[in-house]
Amino acid sequence: MTVEQAINIEDLRRMCRRRLPRIAFDYIEGGVEDERGSPTNQAGFLRYRLLPRYLVDVSKRDQSVTLFGRTYSSPFGFGPTGTMGLFRRGSELMLAQAAREANIPYVMSGASNATMEAAARIAPDHLWYQLYAATDGAICADLLRRARDVGIGVLMVTVDVPVRTRRERNIRNGFNFRHKLKPSIVAEALRHPAWIVEYLRHGGAPMLDNWAPYAAQGANAMEVAEFFNTQVPASSQTWRDLETYRKLWPGKLVVKGIMRTDDAERAVALGADGILVSNHGGRQLDRAPAPIDVFPAIDAAVGNRATLMLDSGIRRGSDIITALCVGAKFTFLGRAGLYGVSAGGQAGAKRVIDILRTELDLNMGQMGCPTIADLGPDCLWTERDLAPVVTRAPVAASSPDGAQ
Ligand SMILES: Cc1cc2nc3c(=O)[nH]c(=O)nc-3n(C[C@H](O)[C@H](O)[C@H](O)COP(=O)(O)O)c2cc1C
Repeated sequence: MTVEQAINIEDLRRMCRRRLPRIAFDYIEGGVEDERGSPTNQAGFLRYRLLPRYLVDVSKRDQSVTLFGRTYSSPFGFGPTGTMGLFRRGSELMLAQAAREANIPYVMSGASNATMEAAARIAPDHLWYQLYAATDGAICADLLRRARDVGIGVLMVTVDVPVRTRRERNIRNGFNFRHKLKPSIVAEALRHPAWIVEYLRHGGAPMLDNWAPYAAQGANAMEVAEFFNTQVPASSQTWRDLETYRKLWPGKLVVKGIMRTDDAERAVALGADGILVSNHGGRQLDRAPAPIDVFPAIDAAVGNRATLMLDSGIRRGSDIITALCVGAKFTFLGRAGLYGVSAGGQAGAKRVIDILRTELDLNMGQMGCPTIADLGPDCLWTERDLAPVVTRAPVAASSPDGAQ
């Protein structure tokens, strides 16, 4: 099966699973502890139904959205995902290229294998950068300087990784950021020849290229990863650091990972332009609620002062529609993008966009909503809207002998 034959994101997920060794696929797929987070996120969307409105002219449909002064062709982008070189070499640049061609944003992760300079050459107008704060403030300042120098307009500061979490699949698989392969891992990986050939052809573990300038000169991939691990997560990071980033960063600033109204209030008071309501795809706090469930309260608190966006659990165009109906201005993909690019490189990344775009388009047509502005809370139905069951009085028997 080729990526072009994939009908939905689940097809790409299965193709990704086939191509990757378990250690890499589990890193994408896994959560923490009991892994309730990701299913909770998806179930959150399913609590809503979409109410169709008919006899509306939907012969022309437009899913474009204007965000931070730029009009994108769809209301979703590729969110930041780290260490992507492990899944496919060069995959960050493939996502960047696919994003540019489709006119959607691509957010480069703070733990990326490619450099922001390389991504900016490919997608100068569609690249955002996600900051993982380093313990050493000078590194943060330099990362922001570089992002500014290559013309990145939007910075996303991730705040929901105060500590490294216990991802039990990774522990079981022997996954670590140095990608040192144990014999059992190699044996399993041999069942995924395309991946292992690529891994060996590139000399083993991929380098965290953005971080290479801060590690010891000449450090190899493992040494850079070790250095990164001494700096990230910066567990002592507080609101004061966010204030510093706000002062250092002249462009738009989005805080990723906010889940409470008081945190949202504080971020906006500090000058954040946007908030990405997210639980990191259920990879940080297993018992966190779904972003779609906390979104309305955050929207009520700060929605008129900041651009609110949402990620976590998006696998269908109808998930994106639900998020927009709840009030999100934009959405981001995590795993969906990884499934596509891991399965089929740039063609796979393009396929993700095409699938979701088509699903959005057809659902919008079916709902009588030709533009994104037509999507709102009136398009949503939940079980709370169920009318109370009316018990009718029994109908009197009509036949003389009482037979029905
Ligand atoms: C393999 C993987 C790596 C990720 N790396 C990062 C990262 O480097 N920075 C970040 O802010 N979020 C990271 N995330 C979280 C995503 O940006 C996003 O919040 C999450 O995946 C959304 O949930 P979804 O996967 O259900 O779409 C990562 C997610 C995955 C699956």
